[in-house]
Amino acid sequence: MTTQAQSEKDRVVIFDTTLRDGEQSPGATMTHEEKLEVAELLDSMGVDVIEAGFPIASEGDFAAVQEIAKRTKNAVVCGLSRAGFKDIDRCAEAIRPAKRGRIHTFISTSPVHMKWKLQMEPEKVYELVIAQVTRARNYTDDVEWSCEDGTRTEHDFLCRCVEAAINAGATTINIPDTVGYTVPEEYAAIFKMVRQRVPNSDKARFSVHCHDDLGMAVANSLAGVHAGARQIECTVNGIGERAGNASLEEVVMAMRVRNDVLPYWTGIDATTLTRASKLVSAVTSFPVQYNKAIVGRNAFAHESGIHQDGMLKHTQTYEIMIPESVGVKQTSLVMGKHSGRHAFVHKLEELGYKLAGNQLEDAFARFKALADRKKHVYDEDIEALVDEEIATAQDRIKLVSLSVIAGTRGPQRATMKLDIDGKAGIEECEGNGPVDAVFNCIKALVPHDAVLELYQVHAVTEGTDAQAEVSVRLSESGKSVTAKGADPDTLVASAKAYLGALNKLMIKRQRGKPEDMVVERRLHSTEVG
Ligand code: KIV
Ligand code: ZN
Repeated sequence: MTTQAQSEKDRVVIFDTTLRDGEQSPGATMTHEEKLEVAELLDSMGVDVIEAGFPIASEGDFAAVQEIAKRTKNAVVCGLSRAGFKDIDRCAEAIRPAKRGRIHTFISTSPVHMKWKLQMEPEKVYELVIAQVTRARNYTDDVEWSCEDGTRTEHDFLCRCVEAAINAGATTINIPDTVGYTVPEEYAAIFKMVRQRVPNSDKARFSVHCHDDLGMAVANSLAGVHAGARQIECTVNGIGERAGNASLEEVVMAMRVRNDVLPYWTGIDATTLTRASKLVSAVTSFPVQYNKAIVGRNAFAHESGIHQDGMLKHTQTYEIMIPESVGVKQTSLVMGKHSGRHAFVHKLEELGYKLAGNQLEDAFARFKALADRKKHVYDEDIEALVDEEIATAQDRIKLVSLSVIAGTRGPQRATMKLDIDGKAGIEECEGNGPVDAVFNCIKALVPHDAVLELYQVHAVTEGTDAQAEVSVRLSESGKSVTAKGADPDTLVASAKAYLGALNKLMIKRQRGKPEDMVVERRLHSTEVG
């Protein structure tokens, strides 16, 4: 079931764009440190190419791409750029420190994009294809060219542009399904057609990049590979513009589990998939859908009596892959209040975390506090706690204390103390319910115009003493951010989540110099999908 063909011609390059297309999802902002952490994990799990960001978009994007370029040990580090020379030059500067750097440059080629978005004649676009790839090749011999909205591009024009891009020096040709419109047969036919008709097509590697608007991103990507593409652009948990991109864990496991009909292989260590999913969910605060393939919490749960009976008799009755193969560990009772630092560090290593210095001290102190309040501390509790520690390490606003009076005899009342840039602030507020009272305190202490778009609570484990995990999404001037907070007290978790989102919003505000904001807004709408 899991045989791996190892011939080089069947090797599929995994190009991860979690930090670029993924980070473009509304609300999925990551801090600089979070991006570095995700990049480090991607590198260690065997991703071939890390698309680290869009250097011209903002100072923050530039700095992240440059730092990832410096630190990455194995993967190629790639930056995205539009066709303009300023974009390409900035991208080249950002990837310069990389051991192996790639410039990924794109332009729209479909009639609708050329007419309405670019407002250019096809001949002008054709000239720009040659100019942009030539410019990029001055900096590196690893250049990827993408024809944005490729699946809605007229075939003759697509072939001309691909041929010109390869002649100009592009080594990877990506044909994106930017708007998630294609279906597997059609996408495969496009690759076959281009590879047959373009005379120099054997000089480049072809790549798929699929969006999930019709729920076919993974199927389309695999169809493209069947038709000769040997690079898949994907993201952890499938995050990305609108409905997202093809999910990395799904494409990898599809080729592994169904290697009999998809005889391709990748360099990904599949046992790291669960950890990657959890990390990306934690830093973006995007919850993973319970029934998500491979990494959803129900992906290996068997509820019905018939299924459980079958599983007890033989696991292959209902299980096509074993949970351990994607890094799922059986939930274990880990430690209690008597567990020491050594056991804690050991557990962190087992769960895939590497904490040191103050971060380790703070996480250990949080663990001790939790173990004092909660009888059983599970792996999931430790993960929620450490993810929160990582996400809040750079926060400017911190929760110091909170007490709430709730119950049937309102009004509900909260008293909150915050540490804001090292200064203490205290406020007492009423509200229409305890959560409202808590949020009113935050608004009084940190006045802002952000709108609460989402408030969601779920339990990390089972039992009435389970930690509550709260997600909050705030939006301000067209920018939205999401954050999570965890605590056995739902109100404390709510306050942490709201403050987490405010902290992220402050980072976004800093990034958004007027000039950058124009670029960012454009990029988040129609410029890049
Ligand atoms: O979806 C898309 O077309 C893109 C390109 C920039 C590759 O993200
Ligand atoms: Zn895209």
